[in-house]
Amino acid sequence: TKNYRTGDHVLHLLLEDGTELNYPVDPAPLPPLRNPDILVGENDLTALSYLHEPAVLHNLKVRFVESKLIYTYSGIILVAMNPYKQLPIYGDAIIHAYSGQNMGDMDPHIFAVAEEAYKQMARNNRNQSVIVSGESGAGKTVSARYAMRYFATVSKSNSNAHVEDKVLASNPITEAVGNAKTTRNDNSSRFGKYTEISFDQRHQIIGANMRTYLLEKSRVVFQSENERNYHIFYQLCASALQPEFKHLKLGHAEEFNYTRMGGNTVIEGVDDRVDMMETQKTFTLLGLKEDFQMDVFKILAAILHLGNVQMTAVGDEKSSVSLEDKHLNIFCELLDLDNDKVAQWLCHRKIITASETVIKPMTKLQALNARDALAKKIYSHLFDFIVERINKALHFSGKQHTFIGVLDIYGFETFDVNSFEQFCINYANEKLQQQFNLHVFKLEQEEYMKEDIPWTLIDFYDNQPVIDLIEAKMGILELLDEECLLPQGTDENWLQKLYNNYINKNPFFQKPKMSNTSFIIQHFADKVEYKSEGFLEKNRDTVYEVLIDILRNSKFHLCADFFQDHPVPISPFRSTITVKSAKTVVKPPNKQFRTTVGSKVLSLAQIVKILNSYTPIDDFEKRVSPSFVRKVQAMLNNREDIPQLMLDTKYLFQVTFPYTPSPHALEIIQIPSSFKLGFLTRV
Ligand SMILES: Nc1ncnc2c1ncn2[C@@H]1O[C@H](COP(=O)(O)OP(=O)(O)O)[C@@H](O)[C@H]1O
Ligand SMILES: [Mg+2]
Repeated sequence: TKNYRTGDHVLHLLLEDGTELNYPVDPAPLPPLRNPDILVGENDLTALSYLHEPAVLHNLKVRFVESKLIYTYSGIILVAMNPYKQLPIYGDAIIHAYSGQNMGDMDPHIFAVAEEAYKQMARNNRNQSVIVSGESGAGKTVSARYAMRYFATVSKSNSNAHVEDKVLASNPITEAVGNAKTTRNDNSSRFGKYTEISFDQRHQIIGANMRTYLLEKSRVVFQSENERNYHIFYQLCASALQPEFKHLKLGHAEEFNYTRMGGNTVIEGVDDRVDMMETQKTFTLLGLKEDFQMDVFKILAAILHLGNVQMTAVGDEKSSVSLEDKHLNIFCELLDLDNDKVAQWLCHRKIITASETVIKPMTKLQALNARDALAKKIYSHLFDFIVERINKALHFSGKQHTFIGVLDIYGFETFDVNSFEQFCINYANEKLQQQFNLHVFKLEQEEYMKEDIPWTLIDFYDNQPVIDLIEAKMGILELLDEECLLPQGTDENWLQKLYNNYINKNPFFQKPKMSNTSFIIQHFADKVEYKSEGFLEKNRDTVYEVLIDILRNSKFHLCADFFQDHPVPISPFRSTITVKSAKTVVKPPNKQFRTTVGSKVLSLAQIVKILNSYTPIDDFEKRVSPSFVRKVQAMLNNREDIPQLMLDTKYLFQVTFPYTPSPHALEIIQIPSSFKLGFLTRV
């Protein structure tokens, strides 16, 4: 209501509802300007005149609250809000409405993004990828599923034997064995998944292949309050009384340690028994016959029984398992093992030194850990095996012409207590974020080059320092791997080394004020405090060799197969991209410590590489000349010379979207960091 003059301490405002407000301001930073009414509710954020955090949030809110619109473009990126209820916007009629249309002509929708990928592939015969990212519970898995359904629907042909249905059917199976209830999401994916859908010359689906990584194994033996183990265990328990499952000797999920730990075995609105029938049906649809299914269920049941095997302390140093233990006997019966051997080696370990072999008893705690480690090992083999079989079922003989990859990564996570699993997940997300930054940055610079626009220097938030802290030489992972190799290594010693190496030396690492057992990493999305307890154990992932030998010699083929020494079969992935890992993995000196878990995160690098090669700007990468790169580098190096062009990149995410049709295409838009990665992206 009154003009503002520099130095004033009050803004005189007239609010939308007519009230007047004297809003105190600190003379330095004025509050951000609002957009003209006519722009509020725009379906593309890049069309806004003022793009700052409040404007972006306000725009999304107006669309969502007033019009129930969950999708908004941000240039070529689609931002999705989770409505947490079924909206009538995913039917086949809608799919057909989007088919063949241009992204800019239609309301923002996941189908528009899928159509764009499909069209680009069909028109230019180029491979495409869709990356879905966001916080846990943001709606990634649901969105990835819709994208796949779109491809299946628009590419339908009459001739091939329901290939599309099979490709879609792989989802419920991987979700049954790889998803679980967490406090954030009743159906949280506990693994990352990259699915490549293959198309033939006529752009019809001929098959698919998926690659999974970083399954959260600890969940098999441990769940926090209000969380559950993998869905499949509850489905099986809910079906325990079915005649075909009688021999598994299962019961209610409350009866098993591995399924009751979270305190609540049911999910509201989910009928595990019905879901079990669905699981069986999809296995069958994929051509995985009943005997195969029964083998899988036998292994799952064996894991539950193993979790109920009682360990009794014998003095302070020893422990034992009774040969009468009901669950031990069922475990051995299901996997065709000798119960006396299993009982013996659950409580003892063999130590082989240069001169002798010693058999050492284990304490009750050690024995429990060994039992749990075995359960995790069996489950992760089973998971890989199921994925491998699905891949076989989805592999068709036709010649692949092009593919569309869909990456559904688990999002950045932070809980009250964060452990090794969150550390791996967040590390993976750092890698993905870097990939995203690079693309956007390159796109932007290219546009300036192409248009011959005088250079505006766009700095972007570079998360390489955090990645270095984790994976470089003397980084967190290397120190962890080293500690794991020391016979006397402990979580405490490792943490102490982290403190010694990084406190006050690395700005991305902190020690919490009130704790000597945790450390803090400043990730791109947030600060996360990790509890060091259990890192060594989880990274080592040790199962004692004698137990493995016993299982390897089981007469139950599937079980024996899991533990054969043959190298993991190379998945039938057609890409032959080799990626040199940035980090040299410390060679384990003895068989007990094969590769550590942390080092496996690097397999994500391979996926990132594939994405890099097959995103719409891959030809841009080819066009980037060394001189271009030098020019950019020089500008980055000299950035102190042109402070007026410096942007506060610590909190702002600089992006331009050259392909938007609007005249604002070249404007810089800023996606606030408070978004974290809570939006869908398509590169
Ligand atoms: N587009 C959507 N429409 C309706 N509900 C959704 C949608 N996306 C997500 N949800 C709901 O949110 C839950 C969590 O979504 P999900 O995709 O599993 O999250 P994420 O994979 O990101 O962790 C789903 O189980 C579903 O109930
Ligand atoms: Mg998910």
